[in-house]
Amino acid sequence: MIHLHDICYLRLGCQDLDQMVDFATRILGLELRERTDTHAYLRGDDSTYNLCYIQGDADYDASAFQLRTLDQLDDAERQLSAEGFAVHRGTPAECEERHVEAFIGFTDRNDNRLELVYRHHRTGVRYFPARDAGITEFGHFGLHSRDIERDLSFWTAFMDARISDRIGEGALLRIDEVHHKIALFPSEKSGIQHVNFQVAGIDDVMRSWYFLKENDIPIVFGPGRHPTSTAMFIYFMGPDNRVYEYSAGVKRITDEGAYTPRQFEMKPSSFCMWGARPNVEEFSE
Ligand SMILES: [Fe+2]
Repeated sequence: MIHLHDICYLRLGCQDLDQMVDFATRILGLELRERTDTHAYLRGDDSTYNLCYIQGDADYDASAFQLRTLDQLDDAERQLSAEGFAVHRGTPAECEERHVEAFIGFTDRNDNRLELVYRHHRTGVRYFPARDAGITEFGHFGLHSRDIERDLSFWTAFMDARISDRIGEGALLRIDEVHHKIALFPSEKSGIQHVNFQVAGIDDVMRSWYFLKENDIPIVFGPGRHPTSTAMFIYFMGPDNRVYEYSAGVKRITDEGAYTPRQFEMKPSSFCMWGARPNVEEFSE
């Protein structure tokens, strides 16, 4: 079993890098840490980056997880290869591009590009955002799944993610105490389904709601509160047609042995206990 220590970064292809840097800094509230002709590295914490936008194929994305030791990375490479995955060991140039010491990349059964990382670089300089959205950390992300049971088996039996809750067929998975860091959504697509940053509190969620509306950013769901994770949320659409989310107050599951996953009915109230309804179908959580 592969032990996932934490989520690490997302690599997000885009057609217009300048547009995404503008959105990520002026609207989303991330700090632009580094920019090249083709790559923009943005962060909501003290790491070198959480999101890397890459000029080019807008359909390209990859999500990365940190492993704790090089032995675990070597083990993961062996286990994945034995399962029939085509595993690529990152070259020095690829590691430099990702600001990591080592990584492996592969594509899961849902054609999601995943990377397992050892020693993602951090900085000694605190996060200083271009807009104070109240971001406290890179929270979680959603992944599309064409076959939930197959992918759940991958994440929970082959990797060591645990199911926190399910809504219909969808599943919210934790890899540490946080209620979920991965959300699997039934879909015909592959890749990243939404990108979440945690903010300090409900005031930040509501402040951003007004800010986003004033800036003509499409709100796709919320403000609302998830009965599953108890997080208060707002979802909105980026110029790259990806869904972004702020949320605050996510539940922590501190007693692994005492926790039993819950099955929520497939109704709007399972996504928002306040009564908010999503404006598009595919992203709701
Ligand atoms: Fe979310």
